[in-house]
Amino acid sequence: MDKRIAVIGVGKLGGTLCSALSRSGVVPAGCLVGTTAHEESAQSAAGQHGIRVSTDNTAAVEGADLIVLAVKPQGMGRLLQELKPVITPDQVVLTLAAAITTRFVEDRLQEGVPVLRAMPNLPSLIGQGMTVLCAGRQAHLEHMVMAKEIFSALGRVAEIDSEELMEAVTGLSGSGPAYGYIIVESLAEGGVKVGLPRSLATVMAAQAILGAAAMVLETGEHPALLKDMVTTPAGTTVNGLMALEEGNIRVALIKAVEAATAKAKELAR
Ligand SMILES: NC(=O)c1ccc[n+]([C@@H]2O[C@H](COP(=O)([O-])OP(=O)(O)OC[C@H]3O[C@@H](n4cnc5c(N)ncnc54)[C@H](OP(=O)(O)O)[C@@H]3O)[C@@H](O)[C@H]2O)c1
Repeated sequence: MDKRIAVIGVGKLGGTLCSALSRSGVVPAGCLVGTTAHEESAQSAAGQHGIRVSTDNTAAVEGADLIVLAVKPQGMGRLLQELKPVITPDQVVLTLAAAITTRFVEDRLQEGVPVLRAMPNLPSLIGQGMTVLCAGRQAHLEHMVMAKEIFSALGRVAEIDSEELMEAVTGLSGSGPAYGYIIVESLAEGGVKVGLPRSLATVMAAQAILGAAAMVLETGEHPALLKDMVTTPAGTTVNGLMALEEGNIRVALIKAVEAATAKAKELAR
């Protein structure tokens, strides 16, 4: 891609994005610039990600085609105030901050600046992320196409039309890895209970969940159908499933997504 990208906030997520973009070759390292709030973090981020990083947001934004805002949500208002005079409508802004709407960003920039919003998740760190994108009022198809190409360097990408669903995205794929870790941890604990060494039990649990998830994505089959393939009549798995149903695992997971979404909505207000 022959676009120049400025990442404002080369922290955990911004840094992951920079590394993935230059490593995958989606954007050459020479076309990426970044900023941080402090000189020391700028130096260490430059060394870590192999790109130019400074503390000068204005200089970084100048000449960039896409400006990625990757600072904490609470710093966004002040940052937009600083950037308003220098971002023009021929540039595109993409915000990564949880609970910050495209409307919030649009209202604080010059009229006509296209804004997109993305919600990636933790496994983006290893290229196995899930990023969901939505467009603001001035963003067009070409901007969305560019954003999809960029985030494909971090894993799988999807788009939603209604920004109101972004909080649901936070509750499912944003928080989802944490639910996955609880499941892996608990399965491993089960392995320990029946005599397996902990380290082996953890690998077995993680690979079982990884393999099951990969089959859902690769085959496109309904999860219930794949579950039936493991469950032989009067076999072992059906006993395990009964124990899960007794523990109300379905309701617990549904409620987890619902509760995290409710919290994201509260933060967005
Ligand atoms: N981490 C995730 O998994 C994840 C997932 C989805 C969404 N997000 C969103 O991504 C954003 C960043 O999260 P993070 O976890 O990457 O945070 P982080 O590691 O704390 O990174 C924030 C970065 O922003 C820099 N910064 C702060 N104020 C700045 C300013 N005015 N100008 C330039 N740079 C500035 C910080 O610099 P210093 O280090 O010098 O202070 C730091 O490099 C958040 O809004 C979060 O909601 C994160």
